[in-house]
Amino acid sequence: MAKNKQRTVFACQKCGAQRPRWEGRCSDCGSWNTFVEEREGEPSPGSSRGWISRPKSAGVGGALSLNQDVEAESIVRWSTGLEELDRVLGGGIVPGSFILVGGDPGIGKSTLLMQMAGGVASQSKKTLYVTAEESVKQTALRAQRLGVRSERVQVFAESNLNEILAEVESAKPDVVIVDSIQTIFRPDLESAPGTVSQVRECAGQLMTFAKSKDVSIFLVGHVTKDGAIAGPKVLEHMVDTVLSFEGDHSHQFRLLRAMKNRFGATFELGVFQMSSDGLQEVKNPSELFLEERGKNSHGSAVFASMEGSRPLLCEIQALTVVTQNPMPRRTAIGTDLNRLHLLSAVLEKHGKLSLSHADIFVSAVGGLKLTEPAADLAIAAALLSTHRSIALDPKAVFFGEVGLTGEIRAVSFAESRLREAKKLGFQRFVIPAANRKHVEGLIKEWNAEIEFQFVSHLTHVSDMIAGAPRKTSVRTVLDLD
Ligand code: TYD
Ligand code: MG
Repeated sequence: MAKNKQRTVFACQKCGAQRPRWEGRCSDCGSWNTFVEEREGEPSPGSSRGWISRPKSAGVGGALSLNQDVEAESIVRWSTGLEELDRVLGGGIVPGSFILVGGDPGIGKSTLLMQMAGGVASQSKKTLYVTAEESVKQTALRAQRLGVRSERVQVFAESNLNEILAEVESAKPDVVIVDSIQTIFRPDLESAPGTVSQVRECAGQLMTFAKSKDVSIFLVGHVTKDGAIAGPKVLEHMVDTVLSFEGDHSHQFRLLRAMKNRFGATFELGVFQMSSDGLQEVKNPSELFLEERGKNSHGSAVFASMEGSRPLLCEIQALTVVTQNPMPRRTAIGTDLNRLHLLSAVLEKHGKLSLSHADIFVSAVGGLKLTEPAADLAIAAALLSTHRSIALDPKAVFFGEVGLTGEIRAVSFAESRLREAKKLGFQRFVIPAANRKHVEGLIKEWNAEIEFQFVSHLTHVSDMIAGAPRKTSVRTVLDLD
């Protein structure tokens, strides 16, 4: 009889591609030197390899014709005790969900999840915190410092997946936190913890468990140098939700985003602040991001951005310096560099601004990362202000997308952006003329309190900024075209 032969494969640690031979460059994802030899053991009995068969609905053979009435089963959700986290999850934890939390080391993933365990405990739900990185004592000490003291939160230090599952079976928790997926292993696989096959097989088995037993499982995932969650992409496909915890170590605030969510909207944003007693929720982040804004400084403009369904005001700063360098520098921190190239070209052509001999620096203050093209108008205003040494009205807010011909295009969610700006005391809104139809209601509602300036072309913005900023205006609605 043929001997049960073990197959050796080389797996790309970045994308999970498998090859019979070592290759220097992965032809699937293009990364260099990522192949590691792994031995493929026989899948153990019961191993699902990440696939699960869902229970068939009673009476129906599996497939469902869409002309039948479907009973709308409302999704039950448990609150995490942290409003910011609940919102990012889409309203709370869905039982049986499988969630990946990624982020740089030291950013606060373990802290966040321990605080969540405390919050879940106060809703009479049990949590098992599996730590494969720290000892039980270390984790318990941290929990004490965070004020998490409950018999419903248990800490278990183990990295062998079989032991972890046995403990989960006996403890019967509602929520399991696995810290981290890269440090747990299945003993029947020969490869080291953290390799593609270990991560995939462990996650697959945990997913089967979560779905069949209705236990919510949170996996902590490490992030590689280039910002991707370490381990194969297959992990991201497997989970219901991918949360990313970001922040600058030099700043105290941390941003939690949903990159993928089967149970809610993606790109929702939760804001926290790291303090000596754990993460504090930031209920009004706009105030935080505008806190240190100087008065009447040149090159500073306030942008009303949208992060998911949430308006967020932030300051954009720009600086231009004349240089002899034939290739002037363009630096963008927290904003898109390509859009800065485009904007400086459009400003040169349509904004009456000579930037070809100037180094340009643009920064979104506070470590925010702005991806919306709606930031164009605020960046342009900051550039016009710094280059001409004219301070913008400190009570003005900007948003709008700038096109290549200098036209200013409408952006979505104009009303939410403006309501947030009004709440923070801003009184002058410089916004695209094409958005006017969306804010007619607000113009009536706010009457003479707020000055609206509708702009349709960059020339108008340039002319407007060249004139001195006015504190009061006779006309409250100005069409600058
Ligand atoms: P941690 O949750 O261990 O990060 P991760 O699990 O993402 O690696 O958080 C580590 C940092 O947070 C650490 O540098 C100390 C800081 N911290 C506080 O400032 N206050 C606190 O109450 C706690 C628990 C941590
Ligand atoms: Mg940790």
